[in-house]
Order: sequence, then C-alpha cells, then structure tokens
Amino acid sequence: MHAALLQHIDDALNAALLHAELTPQLSDACRHALLGGGKRLRPLLVLASAQATGGPVESAFRAAAAIECVHAFSLVHDDLPALDNDLVRRGIPTVHAKYGEALAILAGDALLTIAFLSASSGSAPNPRVLSELSRATMRMINGQCFDTFGGFPEQFDAAARLDLVHHNKTGALIECACVLGGLSSNASASSLADLRSFGATLGLMFQIVDDVIDETQSTEHVGKATGKDREAGKLTYPVVHGLEESRAAVARLHDDARGALNRLETASIPGASTALLEAILKTCVSRTR
Ligand code: IPE
Ligand code: IPE
Ligand code: MG
Ligand code: MG
Ligand code: MG
Repeated sequence: MHAALLQHIDDALNAALLHAELTPQLSDACRHALLGGGKRLRPLLVLASAQATGGPVESAFRAAAAIECVHAFSLVHDDLPALDNDLVRRGIPTVHAKYGEALAILAGDALLTIAFLSASSGSAPNPRVLSELSRATMRMINGQCFDTFGGFPEQFDAAARLDLVHHNKTGALIECACVLGGLSSNASASSLADLRSFGATLGLMFQIVDDVIDETQSTEHVGKATGKDREAGKLTYPVVHGLEESRAAVARLHDDARGALNRLETASIPGASTALLEAILKTCVSRTR
C-alpha cells in the first residue's frame, strides 16, 4: 500500500548518504545500517502525519530521512558488545559483526550527523524540526542510559521505571516522527498536540510489543536475537507486568492512540487524511516482528 512512499524514503536516504561524502569504509557501513531492511516506521509516520494535517508529503522527505538516520544510529550502537551485544539485525549481521566495533562506532557517529545534515538542508530548513529532532534524540539516548545503567529517581517503583525507559528510549523518536510530519505541513498548535499525543502513545505501545516479541517469537522469524531481555536483567513489560497484562496494555494504548486520531479527524483540515496513520497503528498493534 505504501510502496511508493517507501521508495521515496529510500531515495531520500540514498541522497542523504551521497550528500555526506563519506569515506568508502564509512559509506559501506552506513549503507549496511541504513539500507539493509527495516520497517521504516518512523519515516512513514513523518509522511503519514504530514498527510493527516493536509500537507504535501514532499515537504517532509528530508525530515523523514533524518529521523530514520537517527534510528539507524541508535540500532548500530544498541547492538554493540558494550550495550546489547547482538550479532543479527533485520536478518543480516549487525554492523559491528560485519565491519568490526571501531567502524560500527564511527558509522553510528556518521549516521547521527547525516540526520542533522538532512534535516538542515533544502531551501528553507525549519528550525523547529531541528530542535524537535535534537530533543528527541537526547531523550532516546537518556532512555538507553536508564535501560543500561538504571539510576532512576528513588521514589520510582518498577512500573514507573519501565515507563520512563520506554517513553524515552523508543517513545521519543516515534512521537517526534509524528510532530515532524505536522511541522512539515505547518499544522496548527492543536493538531501538533494531537499528533504528539498519538505518537507518544504509539511509541510506548511499540516498545511493549517489542518486549512481547522478545519473549514469544523466534530469532529466525524476527530477524534479530530474541529471548534474551529477561535473562539480561532488562526491565521489560512482560518482566514487570506479565505477558497477559502486557497484551492488555497494548490494547488500551491502541484505543488511546485511536482517540488522538479521532480528534485529528474532527479538525476537518482541507485535503487531510488520517488513513495512513490508521493503517500504521493497525500494523503496529498486531505485528510479530
Ligand atoms: C527496533 O525498532 C528498536 C526498537 C525501538 C524496538 P524497529 O522495530 O522499528 O526496527 P526496524 O527499523 O524495523 O529494524
Ligand atoms: C532499543 O530497544 C531501543 C533503541 C533506542 C535502539 P531494544 O534493545 O529492545 O531494541 P532491539 O530489540 O534491540 O531492536
Ligand atoms: Mg537495547
Ligand atoms: Mg537491543
Ligand atoms: Mg527489544
């Protein structure tokens, strides 16, 4: 259904890589990280959110590529031996497994930089896009830090710690993707608030589903190592709340996200359609990989 949009996203990613003028080694490693598969959830959300607020998707291509670059950077570093120590991602070797740790670290550095090159290029870069993307990236890194080291506020119980990790390590970029789409089509403050609320809810839901997938699906099916969060002592939804309650939380969050979409729809913005956001929400709630 979104085949044409997916092609535009890949074209924008290719253009961003070329524009960065990387050394041959960095270029190979970044291509592997960026173009070797992936669901493209975040860039699709940028484009879908632009559509939901009546803007042309073309105005959102650079922001879409930028957020996928931040995401790819986060995965390359997340897989490193010092973090999750994973050898397979998207059904192929992780960047450090294929190119070594040094180049994986540098490829992550490059992807983060390419993200901001992409977001700040073009004839009229939007400073709000840059500031949203910077803040969300910082939140993602803070979330990864809580996930890796703990260090939570003392009064936080396990459920509050878990929400803090998930809202930041995963929720921040997904929320940001929706806001970037709205900014690209000059959405009103109230539409931006609806998009933010939709994205934050979807982001939390997405990571709960990821935690459930880790406990219930095979590595072969998912294309990345599964069955290791609990053993690694990770704070996940199934660990804290159990599988059944995790699934119930996903259903509740789905309904909340649907509510935010309803609010967007009632704004009746000329030329706008929430159909793609709806389709993405549906895919995210039932995905198994
Ligand atoms: C994986 O994200 C990391 C999480 C935040 C759970 P995705 O599941 O979106 O990964 P790709 O891009 O499709 O590989
Ligand atoms: C990672 O969460 C979130 C990021 C910011 C990369 P996970 O560690 O659960 O993601 P996967 O399961 O490796 O994709
Ligand atoms: Mg991790
Ligand atoms: Mg991981
Ligand atoms: Mg995971």
